[in-house]
Amino acid sequence: METEVFDYFSALYSNADLTAPFDRAAALLRAGELVAFPTETVYGLGANALDPAAVTKIYQAKGRPSDNPLIVHIANETMAEDLAEIPPLAKELMAAFWPGPLTLVLPAKPCLPRVTTGGLSTVGLRMPAHSAAIRLIEAAGLPIAAPSANLSGRPSPTSAGHVLHDMRGKIPLIIDGGEAAAGLESTVLDLTSAVPAILRPGVITAADLVEFIPGLTEETRLPHGGVARAPGMKYRHYAPKARVVLCDQTDIYPTYKAAWRQFAAQGNSHPKIAVLATLNGLTGLAEAENCFLLGENLPQVAQNLFTALRWTDEINADLVLAERFPETGLGIAIMNRLNKAAANEPKPPTDKQGEQHD
Ligand code: TXA
Ligand code: MG
Repeated sequence: METEVFDYFSALYSNADLTAPFDRAAALLRAGELVAFPTETVYGLGANALDPAAVTKIYQAKGRPSDNPLIVHIANETMAEDLAEIPPLAKELMAAFWPGPLTLVLPAKPCLPRVTTGGLSTVGLRMPAHSAAIRLIEAAGLPIAAPSANLSGRPSPTSAGHVLHDMRGKIPLIIDGGEAAAGLESTVLDLTSAVPAILRPGVITAADLVEFIPGLTEETRLPHGGVARAPGMKYRHYAPKARVVLCDQTDIYPTYKAAWRQFAAQGNSHPKIAVLATLNGLTGLAEAENCFLLGENLPQVAQNLFTALRWTDEINADLVLAERFPETGLGIAIMNRLNKAAANEPKPPTDKQGEQHD
């Protein structure tokens, strides 16, 4: 299959007709095909959420286990009401954070096929803050089930190029909406448990939500005693081919030198040691090859992180050294992804859903 890439912003800024391309994308979705599209977090791999055969194609294209639920993307609150029971707290959160990077897990209505919810009786709903995504949902007139548009286990795609790399030949259309603004996937908040819990940290933090949910932290415990988790928060995920080692900012340079000596002792006199860090973290490495500047603040680090992880594969790195960040605010979501890339996260004792890929 030929994969077409539609350049949304070029069309938008040249005042070209947008109706025809979005009608075509909508027709593909209605015909049960997959369309990748931009959101403010990462790119999604979309299918008609109400069509089990179409949704099955998502799992096949990604190589993802079929019991890992998909987020359903909607363009307005009426669509949300058609798909899920909306308690008053959810209404408040929707008013405050939608469109935006917050997925709400709610009781699903029977119209949603179980393949979409990974067999669960709940559904994760999200209204993305990207005009191309909203246009697509509105043109199709359908809720769109969409996981991140990466091959399972790979870093989520933050550009159309990333999607093309993973999905070329597997899907008919990618809508190119530029670099994803946030760069990390949405915060997943479970409103179906007795105590609301963040299943996946993201750009919207517990500190942002606590005004609506007193006492909420990223570490809110579930009644069964385990740390709250989305089924898809896999053990080793976002993982580049090379080993990833996390270093405190001031340890990067000494670790780099030690690693270099170790490779040399093993007969590799010119190892490719990729360093992913802020400007301060790169201190001492001005002459070093294969450094990737993640940015100067946490939002920039979040935006660039997956591009950086993918780049380490492109250069065939022998080892990846990545800066460790303080686990507060956005640093929590960044470290969640980095720990998975480094496979540092201990297996939780009570992960009832098993270990699966996003
Ligand atoms: O930002 C995002 O959320 C992106 C864009 C495309 O919207 N989507 C995304 O989807 O990251 P995905 O499938 O890669 O990750 C969805 C996460 C998984 O960890 C999944 O287990 C969890 O959300 N999830 C979805 N529905 C759920 C449910 N009903 N209960 C618990 N967790 C759920
Ligand atoms: Mg994913």
